[in-house]
Amino acid sequence: MATLLTIEELSKRFSGLAALDHISFEIREGEIVGLIGPNGAGKTTLFSIIAGSQPPTSGKIVFEGRDFTRVKPYRAVHAGIARTHQIPQPFLSMTVRENVEVGLRFGRAREGAQELIKGVMQVLELVGIAPLAELPAAALSVGDLKRLELARTLATRPRLLLCDEVCAGLTECEMQSILGLLRRIQALGTTIIYVEHNLRAILSTCHHVIVLNFGKKLAEGPPEKMQNDPAVIEAYIGKKAEAPRP
Ligand SMILES: Nc1ncnc2c1ncn2[C@@H]1O[C@H](COP(=O)(O)OP(=O)(O)OP(=O)(O)O)[C@@H](O)[C@H]1O
Ligand SMILES: [Mg+2]
Repeated sequence: MATLLTIEELSKRFSGLAALDHISFEIREGEIVGLIGPNGAGKTTLFSIIAGSQPPTSGKIVFEGRDFTRVKPYRAVHAGIARTHQIPQPFLSMTVRENVEVGLRFGRAREGAQELIKGVMQVLELVGIAPLAELPAAALSVGDLKRLELARTLATRPRLLLCDEVCAGLTECEMQSILGLLRRIQALGTTIIYVEHNLRAILSTCHHVIVLNFGKKLAEGPPEKMQNDPAVIEAYIGKKAEAPRP
């Protein structure tokens, strides 16, 4: 599989804090890659930099062979990079349909009204909220807001989708449904980087896993291997207390 995204020695400092510290990895086209790590590891910061909403302090980002290191957010979207936000950010006073229409219209001013309506309904059907199309976004449940967040990004027709904790706060049943949706999105040709704290979700969905800890890349590899990696276990659960000496 071809390389879609390359991250080279990427760093981000917030005053004295190294949120990202010389991170390097590659994402191959067509995969669902899990990005895991404890709170504050730098996962969301990494997404913000790839999507262009924050500049890195140093390092390089290459997307489809082109330098995207300090790309503007609108250029990133036009090139096919879209992100969901950890806390969904819909336009609350607009309807579900209008929220998705914003994503579809972005950069396609010449598209006819019929095509737009068809496109909006296709996205809403894919994520499973078509019956809610005329409700204001403010009326949605947490689970449906997460689906709308996904729909808004899918409407921009991404090649690379950055999903930030789309299952947080959902029931097991809602989570399984969203995971099925991510697999369908991947099968339709979108590469996904998926931030998630639930390791079962990562194991059942991802082809490859990258682990961050305190801004550094701790490990990467197949999900089953990462699950048993002592350094990964220690980062998540903490070191075993030593037995008291007799
Ligand atoms: N704008 C900012 N200004 C200062 N510090 C920031 C800023 N954004 C993030 N940080 C810090 O950078 C570090 C990484 O934060 P980030 O949100 O990327 O972590 P995360 O891995 O997404 O965590 P979580 O799992 O809790 O969402 C944290 O210590 C955080 O407090
Ligand atoms: Mg985060």
